[in-house]
Amino acid sequence: MTGPAVILVGPMGAGKTTVGRLLAERLDTGFRDTDADIVAATGKEISAIFIDDGEPHFRELERRAVREAVAGHTGVLALGGGAVMDEGTRALLAGRPVVFLEMGVAEAVRRTGLDAPRPLLAVNPRQAWRELMERRRPFYTEVARTVVSTEGRTPEEVADAILDAL
Ligand code: S3P
Repeated sequence: MTGPAVILVGPMGAGKTTVGRLLAERLDTGFRDTDADIVAATGKEISAIFIDDGEPHFRELERRAVREAVAGHTGVLALGGGAVMDEGTRALLAGRPVVFLEMGVAEAVRRTGLDAPRPLLAVNPRQAWRELMERRRPFYTEVARTVVSTEGRTPEEVADAILDAL
């Protein structure tokens, strides 16, 4: 199956973009990020899309971005933290080299801060994180071929762990 060499999924703040860039450098390939693709395609920031058009519309745009990326990109691809919640997006990931960058709730709160500007965490971030992780973990696990913990690891170490696992 042609397509991305590695697809990174996992919660916001797990380091998908940072690790993805590093990994792409090490593999001497390109990096692509569906959030950035959506911003480029719509000319709108992600938070503005959530506010103006709602999450279901964002998930549609995201599914489209994933469909285009898996068809046309052969490097490293990072998805947004909630991409796995969409059934159509999950179907696009089947059989592909998906890596789940894992992180616990405490670490998530530490890394993203309590006043993170991310739209899904605006109200009561700690509680929101707990609920998000509970809802999403089964889907991250379902789509992932490999699970890599990011806790206590630098982005370089996470990239190494992914390369070891590939
Ligand atoms: C989201 C994560 C964000 C972005 C959007 C929604 C989520 O991406 O797609 O704000 O639902 O978890 P990152 O995981 O890259 O921050």
